Amino acid sequence: MEKTVMETVATLKGRCLMEPVDFTTEELEGLFRLGDDIIDHPERYASICDHKILATLFYEPSTRTRLSFETAMLRLGGKVIGFADPKASSVSKGETIGDTARIISGYADIIAMRHFVEGAPKAAAMASTVPVINAGDGGHQHPTQTLADLMTIHRIKGGYDGLTVGMCGDLKYGRTVHSLLKAMSRYENVKFVFIAPDELKMPEDLLNELGDSIRWTETKSMEEAMPQLDVLYMTRVQQERFEDKEQYERLKDSYILDKAKMALAKEDMMVLHPLPRVNEIAFDVDEDSRALYFDQAIYGMYVRMALIVALLGLTPGETVWEKTKRLPLPVHPASKPAACPNSKCVTNNDRAVKATARPLEDGTWACEYCDTVIK
Ligand code: CP
Repeated sequence: MEKTVMETVATLKGRCLMEPVDFTTEELEGLFRLGDDIIDHPERYASICDHKILATLFYEPSTRTRLSFETAMLRLGGKVIGFADPKASSVSKGETIGDTARIISGYADIIAMRHFVEGAPKAAAMASTVPVINAGDGGHQHPTQTLADLMTIHRIKGGYDGLTVGMCGDLKYGRTVHSLLKAMSRYENVKFVFIAPDELKMPEDLLNELGDSIRWTETKSMEEAMPQLDVLYMTRVQQERFEDKEQYERLKDSYILDKAKMALAKEDMMVLHPLPRVNEIAFDVDEDSRALYFDQAIYGMYVRMALIVALLGLTPGETVWEKTKRLPLPVHPASKPAACPNSKCVTNNDRAVKATARPLEDGTWACEYCDTVIK
């Protein structure tokens, strides 16, 4: 017998989302089914979060992620607290991420955190009593953007198997491409074409971690890549992550998608972009029916609605007064204390977080918070 929409996401109750591979592909399918149902029947979900509160803790600027999370909760009948500027919170007095999360989890039912420090949402999740969602951590991961990306591809292409996906621009610092690559590595016959200058190539650690689970090629030429692609994922060069500002100036306009390049692409190629864009997509490309980045941002709101419902374990028509408790985060059984070499890792930026590492198949170790390989 086919599962009901709510049964497809039942295993997500009480879980946290730190990276997209925390959820199985079946669980992701369930979220997209729930997102589709919310689009088709918004009235069924309009008061499902009655009495529930979302806290949005944003230590970095955001338009889409924060406002789509907040709109998602309001559209579900819930309420929202939080901050978009950490200077207005007690973080500015030296409070740790763990203490902040522990306190907020006493006030709210679910937390979405964006932080410039890699692994910060995981440190928050470990201290929280309610589910925590990573809304983007430094150059590391952005799992709810991946949910938006996957839902958009699913709705347009019907699935992922056999697709050729081009990732273009800042593949070094762009957390969205890191998350999407990991998530899509689990589907059959997906090919990736990485289009980036030498300075902004996909991190070797990530490629080594994914090993034979992905098939990829790389090129510096957009023109060469365009005819092969089913999906082109454009990214902004991440100005805020550069230590060398001259290097940013030199690289910022490495790739600009324009009408001439679109003419080289398949008629049904999809153009995605997590946004915001700077110069990397010419404005007149917006008129092309293959430009789907504005739809992608809307699907992001619906899939965040589905995520909130699923993590809280709610069902339409039922009012639940008790809080949904956070389930323990998965920890590798052989995990051990080990200093992380990444200066942007939470273990090097928060005095309460103890550095730990998990073993990798090749005998090296990786930081449990930011995944940096410890050589
Ligand atoms: N895609 C994305 O994360 O956008 P914001 O930075 O505006 O949230």
